[in-house]
This record gives sequence, structure tokens and C-alpha cells, in this order.
Amino acid sequence: MRKIVIAGNWKMYKTQAEALEFLQGFMPLLEETPEDREVVLCVPFTDLATLSRNLHGGRIRLGAQNVHWQEVGAYTGEISASMLTEIGARYVIIGHSERRQYFGETDQTVNLRLKAAQAHGLIPILCVGETKQQRDAGETEAIIFNQLKQDLVEVDQQNLVIAYEPIWAIGTGDTCETREANRVIGLIRQQLTNPNVPIQYGGSVKPDNIDEIMAQSEIDGALVGGASLQPESFARIVNYQT
Ligand code: 13P
Repeated sequence: MRKIVIAGNWKMYKTQAEALEFLQGFMPLLEETPEDREVVLCVPFTDLATLSRNLHGGRIRLGAQNVHWQEVGAYTGEISASMLTEIGARYVIIGHSERRQYFGETDQTVNLRLKAAQAHGLIPILCVGETKQQRDAGETEAIIFNQLKQDLVEVDQQNLVIAYEPIWAIGTGDTCETREANRVIGLIRQQLTNPNVPIQYGGSVKPDNIDEIMAQSEIDGALVGGASLQPESFARIVNYQT
């Protein structure tokens, strides 16, 4: 059985006060959420401690949005895996397209971050996906297979989540057609040594398309940006109907 993982990626949104306000609205909406769905919030580093203190043993799992591969050192602005686990994080997003595009992350640094996260017991959510230009050029499969090949060198596929996020679908409202997302995710699965790795879809996931997305046979969850910022909309996504 593959695990279902629904994760919110808050990106650079929410102060601590706003994060707490979200939590107060969101937690009561999870009372009926089926047990087999892992609910994750990947929040700014500055929100982790506050949220961790206020989860009260509930079912929400905390995640960060990046991690450095060194344990300590002169790496101004970076955060290590043990800093994250100490504060209660269980998950960490690695290789998000915004990190690759704006902050120069490469497949090599993504690979280092994945291994460091796993060495400390964090479950990485590895993001892969193609640009519009690459899709139009018929390069989708080649780009993604190459990312997987490089990113996953010596990575433990027992403690891993992958998110397929077509870059052209992120924040645009232009969701990838669900059957196409399902097809690509099926191809991603064929590249893995562990076929039970949960593979999410990400890119303009909303309350009104989550049911159709989760009805697809290969899709094991969602990585949600904008629609994870309001308690009601993220709760509707987590409580998707089968
Ligand atoms: P949106 O849901 O806002 O399109 O963002 C997707 C994403 O980048 C999640 O990591």
C-alpha cells in the first residue's frame, strides 16, 4: 500500500501570528479526515517552533522548505537537518523549482540535501518537473528522468516522497490535465527501485480539482501552494472525496 501524503507549501508566507491563526482555524477541520492521509505543513523556518509547540500531538506533521547538507559550518543563511529535527520537523521539501530557478540549486546540491535529510531521519519531498518550453519541445520525460537519475544517487527510496510539479502549472491556475499528470507520475514510478514511493502532483491544486486528481490511479497526494494558505481551502483538499 502506498502512503497518501497531502502537503501544504506555504513558501514565503505567514508570520508566526498568522501561522497560529491558520492552525486555530485548520485543526478543527481535520476531525473527520481519514487516518490513512498524512497531513503535512511545510512552513517558513521562522514558523516551525511556534507551530511545533501548538500541534498538541495532533495529526499534522511539520515540514521545512529546504535543508543544508552540512551538519555545521560557515554557511551564512543556511539551516541544518539537526536544527530541523530538534524543532519537530519530520519532512523537508528539496529541489523545489523555485529553489532551482531563483537560488541556483543544481541536481548535485539537491542530491546532497536529500542524503543529509535522510541521514537525520527527515523525509524529503523531492520536487521534479519541466518548464513550458521543455514540454512544448517534447522533452518532458527526458528532463524528469534526468533529474531523477541525478537527484536520487545513493538516496534511500524507503524514506522518500516525490512531487511531480510541472513548472508551468505552479501558481498559474493552469493545472496539468489530470490524466496527463497521472501518466507522467506512472513513468516516474517506473524509474524507481521502490514502486511504493508516494508520488504527489503539485501545481494549481485547488478545492475544485482535488477530487479528480486523487481519483487517478498513480497519484498519491498533492503538494499545494496557494490553496494551503487558508484553513478552509486546505481542509477541503485534505478532506478530498473519493
Ligand atoms: P500552487 O499550488 O500555488 O500552484 O503552488 C504549487 C507549488 O509550487 C507547491 O510546491
